Amino acid sequence: MRGIILAGGTGSRLLPITRGTSKQLLPVYDKPMIYYPLSVLMLAGVRDILVISSPGDLPQYRELLGDGSAIGIRLSYAVQEKPRGIAEAFLVGADHIGDGPVALVLGDNVFHGAGFAELLRPHRSHTDGCVLFGYAVRDPERYGVAEVDEGGRLLSIEEKPDHPKSDLAITGLYLYDNDVVSVARGLRPSARGELEITDVNREYLARGKASLVNLGRGLAWLDTGTHDSLLEASQYIKTIEHRQGVRVACIEEVAVRMGYIDPDQCHRLGAGLASSGYGQYVMRVAEDVRRSAGRAPSGAGLSGPLPAR
Ligand code: DAU
Repeated sequence: MRGIILAGGTGSRLLPITRGTSKQLLPVYDKPMIYYPLSVLMLAGVRDILVISSPGDLPQYRELLGDGSAIGIRLSYAVQEKPRGIAEAFLVGADHIGDGPVALVLGDNVFHGAGFAELLRPHRSHTDGCVLFGYAVRDPERYGVAEVDEGGRLLSIEEKPDHPKSDLAITGLYLYDNDVVSVARGLRPSARGELEITDVNREYLARGKASLVNLGRGLAWLDTGTHDSLLEASQYIKTIEHRQGVRVACIEEVAVRMGYIDPDQCHRLGAGLASSGYGQYVMRVAEDVRRSAGRAPSGAGLSGPLPAR
């Protein structure tokens, strides 16, 4: 399965901060926002990922993340000329998607919680229809909203309804089979002039091919869209990290624990950042993985090298 991170848009609700930088590069406590959705894809076993952003911002993502080889994944980059809607990701990314399934994650979505990787695991070999992830919120009218029956079956999907039929927001993580490219090609811009992700999802629903996984109360799905929610997300991550002594969405840690890189490489990456607590943590993780791997010979990780395209 290929992955896409959509990291464009204008970030207008965060002005003036976003006048000179991309929203998804802003810090959520100790790391750039895009590390969080990137970790999600990596945890889902997705290692071939396209980052889409605006012409002005894309070079900064390249500078930050490179070609991904350092963390055992493959990253490529594409421009979205104008923010014409989330579903345009499938048009910009059509070549990248090729003839297989795709996971799309929005670059400003932060997920956290025990069991998240396990929850994604059964979907790694996803090839049919679309899978959406729902999360109960106090203010569903700000999001795509799912209505489900008692058995959890999807009944309807609406984008930012005035009168939501449930409190179940549809989060910014979406899995699709390959039909998504032709579905996106058939879309027309909405009243606000965008190719809506909700219209893609409604088309899948109409075909009887949409399902929803409720993330439940044990996981956190955090908003980063306003000054307050961005600060609250940082405070949440800080609280967890200080209390538990772990880092959330540390991409080097995800890479070594998923077996995408070996502990030697993880240590090298940490050493390159050693003047920060983050870098020191990455080096400690490398040692921890080395120890718990029972002194396995260094070399290819658990999952081995990145498969050829
Ligand atoms: O976060 C989940 C929500 O994301 C869903 O519940 C909604 O159904 C979905 O429409 C979307 O709502 P938002 O109001 O958050 O969408 P927004 O326009 O803020 O875009 C979300 C992210 O995608 C943001 O980081 C900017 C980026 N983006 C957006 C558009 C429209 C792009 O990169 N390009 C675009 O054209």
